[in-house]
Amino acid sequence: MRTAGSVDTIDEVKQRIDVVEVVGSYVPDLKKAGRNYKARCPFHQEKTPSFYVFPDRQSWHCFGACSTGGDAFSFVMKKEGIGFGEALRILADRAGVPLTFRSAHEGETEADKLKGMNEAAAEYYHHLLRRSAAGEKARAYLAGRGIPDKTIAQFQLGYSPDSWDSLRQEMLRRGYRETELAAAGLLIEKEHRGGTYDRFRNRLIFPIRDVNGSVLGFGARALDDSLPKYLNSPQTLVFDKSSVLYGIEQAKSAVRKQDSAVIVEGYVDAIVAHQYGFSNVVASLGTALTERQVGLIKKLTKNLVLALDADAAGEMATLRGIEVASHTFDQRVIPLPTPAGLVKYEDVLDAEIRVMVLPAGKDPDEVIREDPGEWQRLLGQASPVVDYTFELVISRVDPKRMQDKSSAVDRLLPLIAGIKHPVRQAHYLQKLARVVGLDERALAAAMKQLRLPPTDLRREAAPSRPSRLVSPLSQSDPLAEYCLFLIISHPDLSSHASGLSADLFAGHSENRELFLAWQQSHDLESMRQQLDVALLEHLDAILAKPVPPLCGQELERALAECVRRLRERWLREMKTREKILLSETESEGSSADLEEIQQSAVKLNTELGEVFLYAKQSKGQRPG
Ligand code: UTP
Ligand code: MN
Repeated sequence: MRTAGSVDTIDEVKQRIDVVEVVGSYVPDLKKAGRNYKARCPFHQEKTPSFYVFPDRQSWHCFGACSTGGDAFSFVMKKEGIGFGEALRILADRAGVPLTFRSAHEGETEADKLKGMNEAAAEYYHHLLRRSAAGEKARAYLAGRGIPDKTIAQFQLGYSPDSWDSLRQEMLRRGYRETELAAAGLLIEKEHRGGTYDRFRNRLIFPIRDVNGSVLGFGARALDDSLPKYLNSPQTLVFDKSSVLYGIEQAKSAVRKQDSAVIVEGYVDAIVAHQYGFSNVVASLGTALTERQVGLIKKLTKNLVLALDADAAGEMATLRGIEVASHTFDQRVIPLPTPAGLVKYEDVLDAEIRVMVLPAGKDPDEVIREDPGEWQRLLGQASPVVDYTFELVISRVDPKRMQDKSSAVDRLLPLIAGIKHPVRQAHYLQKLARVVGLDERALAAAMKQLRLPPTDLRREAAPSRPSRLVSPLSQSDPLAEYCLFLIISHPDLSSHASGLSADLFAGHSENRELFLAWQQSHDLESMRQQLDVALLEHLDAILAKPVPPLCGQELERALAECVRRLRERWLREMKTREKILLSETESEGSSADLEEIQQSAVKLNTELGEVFLYAKQSKGQRPG
């Protein structure tokens, strides 16, 4: 689930906007000056430009009268005279990143309410499947597919009758309101006439639970050939198809015990696997495996196996850089993760992903039913993504054909470039050199030239088509966030925080906002009260980060060290800026300007000196 202000959202927006473009849209006379951009400052009157934008750091600074700076968020805030949340909304819109909102102080209860409603609906559907006369069709369907009562109970499968208001009536009777039911995705609001009707009709119901067992949404299968075959809950406050794994609650203990998880595509595949005792299986719901799905399972194990049929696996390995539709029959697109995408997940999430290849056109459901031993065997043969892709690409290379060789290089080099582990990377580079008979150093050079395309990691997570990634790197600021964690969660440290100022956080507006709110409040509760909703989750994420437990003096030292490093960083940053300015002024400015800059440079040097002196004195007392 994604909510406004989650770290994910802020980070994602940051990755998709370019401060030069954002500033440029407000400041038409922004001109390139070396690597940077400058203009007359939009915040004060001036004749010569002293306002700079630094694309490398994604920041801006006015060296003139205002002498302030920050990131794209603070620019928009200042320019539009709005708060962080508003600016986030504007920039998210620009970047094509969807935001869903939770209300300020009832966020938790809103979500809980939806889960409760879903739970009630799941029970009702389950009851209808087991007991009602109307459920007979669905019982027969399940029996036909060899799914016994035990499995029906374990997954709480259900049946939604062929009626426009059966669930609606039931839920209204239980005291739920129409608008809430629509917000949960259970009812659909009629477009013109007003009123609501049941979303799921005459379908087999699969409640989708999170790892703790809360029902987040539903999958609903047609009992015949009608389309769509599966209808899912729409995106709601608690449901986002790309960040759930079907069966994770039932699978979690086996996943932990076996320290591995198998990921299949379909609902039925997952439940049949469980039925045959393969209890570490979860389903990705036919979406490309997303970073968030990998993130969910990673809490249980780092060893993942992706089960793909031979066609899909082959497609995955050969079609580079895009997620591809494999089924068009029912107008549904099955996007596949690309090997480079998977390698990226491994890297970002520190997981290992292997590929298990099933016979072409066969679902895990069929494979397991035919011969559970075969499933076990194929599982044993699963190979790491990179190896799998290698084998497949190389098996198609005719060593005598130059064209084959160069296309193999085209396919594999970006994959190898994405491997962060240097030893592994070198290993595969050697392997490729051997296979295509090219010099390894030449390949290494070619690899360096490769500008990796922006990773598609985030793209598939967002439902609407977002803008391109400006920077694939994480945009968070761990040092500042650790510092915020310390001061916010240890009120007694505040006397040691006097060296902090909002400037030190200016590179990341979300952190600067938290710092300002902290300064103005006496406790966490009052801090929360004054924060924009968009920042509440950022705050919670910072407070929830696992950190080494420290106490008493250790805490004070940790904070002192943070303050020192933040100040050092800030001073260095200022120095770099001064340098840029100096070189510009030397070529075109007046001597008075020059002198002023040199003076401030001297001051900066002195301050930096102090920071180092402090570092020396406290050496050996660094926090872990
Ligand atoms: P499949 O078309 O392979 O269906 O889609 P399946 O799981 O084998 O279903 P059965 O065996 O015919 O009952 C794989 C998964 O993709 C999602 C569902 O999660 C499904 O389980 N899907 C499929 C949809 O979300 N919508 C659809 O229309 C079809
Ligand atoms: Mn199937």
